Amino acid sequence: MANRPVGKGFHQLQPLLDDHSARHRDDRRGGLSRKADTADPNPFAERYPADRLRHQGRHRDAGRRSGRLSASSFRQQIGLRMQNSSDQFRIIQISDPHLGRRRPFFQHNWEVLVELLAAETYDLVVCTGDMSMEGAQFEAELAFAARQFKRIRGPIAFVPGNHDIGNSLPDVRGGETVITTARREAYLRHFGPDFWTRDIGSHWRLVGLNSMLPGSGLEGEAQQQVMVEEAAASAAGRRLMVFKHKPLYMGTPDETVLSQSALYPEHRNRLRDALSPASDALVCSGHIHDYKTATWQNLQQIWAPSTAFVIDRDGLQYPVHGIRRAGYLVHTLSGDGHVHAFVEPDRFLNIDVGNWMRAPESFHARYHTEPLRGLILAGDE
Ligand SMILES: [Fe+2]
Repeated sequence: MANRPVGKGFHQLQPLLDDHSARHRDDRRGGLSRKADTADPNPFAERYPADRLRHQGRHRDAGRRSGRLSASSFRQQIGLRMQNSSDQFRIIQISDPHLGRRRPFFQHNWEVLVELLAAETYDLVVCTGDMSMEGAQFEAELAFAARQFKRIRGPIAFVPGNHDIGNSLPDVRGGETVITTARREAYLRHFGPDFWTRDIGSHWRLVGLNSMLPGSGLEGEAQQQVMVEEAAASAAGRRLMVFKHKPLYMGTPDETVLSQSALYPEHRNRLRDALSPASDALVCSGHIHDYKTATWQNLQQIWAPSTAFVIDRDGLQYPVHGIRRAGYLVHTLSGDGHVHAFVEPDRFLNIDVGNWMRAPESFHARYHTEPLRGLILAGDE
C-alpha cells in the first residue's frame, strides 16, 4: 500500500531498552541525535529540509474548524508530497503517554508510536505533558520516561504534566501529589526547561508553558508570566502556538469552579490577558485525553488525545468532551496558516481507566498503590 504511513521494517519491534541504537539506526536525517542523558535545551536549533515534509491537510486553517481526519483519510493524504513546501513546518503533538517502569500499563501503544514515528516525517515532536505515570512520586520514573523518548528522533520539546511534576495548588481534590520546588527541579533535570519560547521561520512563535506553575508561589511562576507576556507583546506579526498540559477551561471560559482538569479561572484569565496582544493564537493542550477544538476570543484551542489511554469511554461519570479515543495530532504550519489532523493508528489500543475513576479512591490514588503484579522490564536500570 503506497499510501500507508509506515516504512520498511515497520513490523520489526525495536528492543525496548535499545534506546540509542534504535535512535541512530532510524535517524535518516542525520545530526538529530541528542546527548545521551539530558534533554536538549534547544530542541529547535536546526531547521530541516522542507522537501522532506509531506502534506497531510487539505484545507488551510482547518484548525478553526474540526481538523479531524479519519485514519483512512489520514493514510490517503499522508502519501502526498508537497511540491512547493519551502515554508512548511510539521509538528507531531503527542500527549499523555504515561510511561512507567514500575507500572508499564500503556507500553503497547508507546511501542507502536515509536515505530510509526521512525517511519514518519516531521520537523518537531512536542509532548504536552504526562510523559510519565509516576514521575511526580519517583524521580527514577521521570528518568525512565526520558530514556523512552530517546527512542524517538529529535528535536523533541516537552511541557510538564501533573503526573511529572505534581498537580496545581491549591489542592482542591485533597491528598494529591502537588508541585514543589524539588519536584520541579527533578523535572528540569530530565526534561529540560518547563517553559520556553522558540521562533519558527518568520511566521510562528512557539511557547511552552508549565500549567502547574500558576498559583504555586514557586520561583518560576513569575518568570513564566513575564516570559509569556513578553512573547505575546513582541510577537511582531508572528502567530503564537502555545503548548501546555491543561486546557484553559472545560466547558465555557466563564466557568468558576476550581477544577484540576483545567486552569483555575484566575490563571485562565491571566493567560488570556497575556496572550491578548497576539492575534489568533493557537493553544494546544493535553491532560483530558479527549480530542476537541474550541474558540475563546483570539484563542483557538486544540485538545490532544492521549497516546496511552482514555478515561471513562462511555461518559458514565465524566462527560465526553470530544473524541475519546487514543491517538495523536499532526500540525502543519505553512506561512501563517495552520492545519491539523487527528491520527488514530490502527494498532493503538483504547485502554479505558474509567473503572478506576469511578472507584471512591479514584485513579490518582489507585494507580500508585496498585500492586505491581510481577510486571518487569528486564534490563532497564
Ligand atoms: Fe494524562
